[in-house]
Amino acid sequence: MLRAIVLAAGKGTRMKSARPKVLHELCGRPMLWYVLSALRDAGVGEITVVTSADLQPHLAQFGIRTVLQEPQLGTGHAVQIALGDLAHQNGQVMVVCGDMPLVDSAILQAILVAGAEANDKGCALALLTARVPLPSNFGRVVRQRETISRIVEERDCTDPQRAVNEVNAGVYLYAETALRDALGKLSNNNAQSEYYLTDTVQMLTDRGERVIGVPAPDYRSVMGINDRVELAAARRELNSRLCDRYMRDGVTIIDPATTYLEPELKFGEDTIIYPNTTVGRLSETGVRCEIGPNARVSNSRLGNAVIVKESVIIDSELGDDVAVGPFAHLRSNTVLGGGVRIGNFVEVKNSRLAAGVKAGHLSYLGDATIGEKANIGAGTITCNYDGTKKNETHIGKAAFIGSNTSLVAPVNVGEGALTGASSVVTKNVEAGARVAGNPARPLANK
Ligand code: UD1
Ligand code: MG
Repeated sequence: MLRAIVLAAGKGTRMKSARPKVLHELCGRPMLWYVLSALRDAGVGEITVVTSADLQPHLAQFGIRTVLQEPQLGTGHAVQIALGDLAHQNGQVMVVCGDMPLVDSAILQAILVAGAEANDKGCALALLTARVPLPSNFGRVVRQRETISRIVEERDCTDPQRAVNEVNAGVYLYAETALRDALGKLSNNNAQSEYYLTDTVQMLTDRGERVIGVPAPDYRSVMGINDRVELAAARRELNSRLCDRYMRDGVTIIDPATTYLEPELKFGEDTIIYPNTTVGRLSETGVRCEIGPNARVSNSRLGNAVIVKESVIIDSELGDDVAVGPFAHLRSNTVLGGGVRIGNFVEVKNSRLAAGVKAGHLSYLGDATIGEKANIGAGTITCNYDGTKKNETHIGKAAFIGSNTSLVAPVNVGEGALTGASSVVTKNVEAGARVAGNPARPLANK
């Protein structure tokens, strides 16, 4: 079983952040998540992440084996620590930088195949290289004719070396025994006084071992993230790839540049996403939905043919043919039945609205259950908070709540009941009854 070591303990100084670098997010996931996914998809069996004390407590979410590197004395030192924790095997071991979230499983598989072939022919190291137009921050590949002889870090480069645009991408497949041997001899005599993993290249070639480069087909896939400018550039690239994938699966995205998506979303066919829209946290839609413009959907499930315009939907579930917005806010366990209409400036929180309910304008519905086809007039407010706790409002089927009604919870309004405009309902209203006033009282029957 192939083993991989992921380097993630670095201080990430260039991020200028209290947060460990590999936890910085792009498209809704920490950068480390992408590297681990690519390794798993490439079939790597056992992954060890080299962590720092700051990072370690955050890694439980990944369910992964970790090894602590304290202090962080460089990438070579990090691999030394990881190997010290792994039993010596006589095969190959992969090393990947944790700050390259655009790496994909196809690239990792390419290096696995090329590296295994080369290993059979006695090659000690296969490393991923790329031709980068502006290669700042990368180690440069120094060749003697076809063979790689060494990697020189940007800060240690001479001017001609700095002009080389072939770089070390940060993915290595080593013969484990040769690697262990070389690591034992590393020194930190360089611009950063660190133990560079990349110095193993020259050590191996100096003693006659062969090192090959496996070229990445697209330099964008190996972008390392060292500062927030690179983080933003990587997010743009990743988002564009995600949009391409969802479009190929049958979603129309009017403007990918202003549509912000994540991995692991599900969209039904013929869904249309309008500009300036964010969809995240495992959200799902049925077919023929229309989302946006200017919408945010997070951790929510939308049925078929749902329309969401200029609205925010968080932690909610919407049935088929629901229409929301413009300018509505649904949150915290809101469940809407089929055909519900939620209009302008309506906030719904922790409430269940049955099929066909209409709340068209300027309302707050919190901790409420509302029966089928009830009509919630403009300006209706559930007064759910009494200063200490939240209270529930129940509205029966086909009730008619007049404009500007305040429902002082806990309170029930029965099936088919009616409240007059500007009622303040402080007591339960019987099914079919009609009330009005402040406080609301039964109206004389006509
Ligand atoms: C490194 C390579 C460089 C390559 C580039 C690719 C070295 C010396 N240089 O440079 O040749 O072109 O990646 O992106 O390896 N880390 C640890 N412990 C440490 C130091 C770093 O775990 O003590 C981790 C970091 O968290 C990071 C990775 O190793 O994920 C690479 O470290 P970083 O400082 O980003 O190296 P680069 O300067 O990018
Ligand atoms: Mg880096």
